[in-house]
Amino acid sequence: MQIIKSKAEMTSFVENQKRENRTIGFVPTMGALHEGHLALVRESIKSNSRTVVSIFVNPTQFNNKEDLRLYPRDEQADFEKLRAEKCDAVFFPTVEEMYPEPDERIFDLGSLATVMEGEFRPGHFSGVVQIVTKLFDTVKPNRAYFGKKDFQQLTIIQHITKQLNYNIDIVPVPTVREKDGLAKSSRNKLLTAEQRKIAPKIFEIMSIAVLEKEKYSVQELKNRVVSKIDAIDGLRTEYFDIVNSQTLMSINSWNEKCEKVGCIAVYCGKVRLIDNILF
Ligand code: PAF
Repeated sequence: MQIIKSKAEMTSFVENQKRENRTIGFVPTMGALHEGHLALVRESIKSNSRTVVSIFVNPTQFNNKEDLRLYPRDEQADFEKLRAEKCDAVFFPTVEEMYPEPDERIFDLGSLATVMEGEFRPGHFSGVVQIVTKLFDTVKPNRAYFGKKDFQQLTIIQHITKQLNYNIDIVPVPTVREKDGLAKSSRNKLLTAEQRKIAPKIFEIMSIAVLEKEKYSVQELKNRVVSKIDAIDGLRTEYFDIVNSQTLMSINSWNEKCEKVGCIAVYCGKVRLIDNILF
């Protein structure tokens, strides 16, 4: 497995592969790899001749300095995990390599980026799109793999890939969960033992809501989820919405003809967890 630090070297690796008619699958990550990331890597290995994983904690998508500082990092362990999966190359650039000068591009993502995560993390998605487009331009993959856990991110990446005419297949991969239902996330490492015990309640309460949906209006069900979560000591809901999976607009009635997804952000102590579920 090659560990590549410069954009020039990364592009030349990919060009050599393409000259041999090999396809490139790409898994962008911020490291602290867990089974959720490895599921993306395995999907990529299945469908492509070469798999490239990037590890880069992108400063421009953090709207909170403390969150960036605390973001878990463990590159040596990440490399070991990727070697074991038989990943072909890791792109592991420095901040200076990716941002030799500040990225002044601002992407207008419309309402996709102003709701939910966009409302509570202003500028977050513009930062995600800045780095993902830089990575796409460097790695030039045939396919790129994104987890459904970051549902809004996935929708935005699908949108921008079309808008900017990238010839890249965006492949969504289902969320991987712990046995107790907690969605795998690098941030789970930041939970104390006590917090780790209550965090699965988030998915449990959403799963019950899915089963109960015939009994309540959309608004009543949303209120129920929030009040059940907030009644647990140590959990505080930032938002919970049930949206059209394409437009990310709130739905008002169960009769609306669209795929419906419940998206949530909850503070478990100081750790912000997100998850979603199909309704
Ligand atoms: O989902 C993530 O880990 C990040 O947002 C991504 C896509 C790697 C961009 O930094």
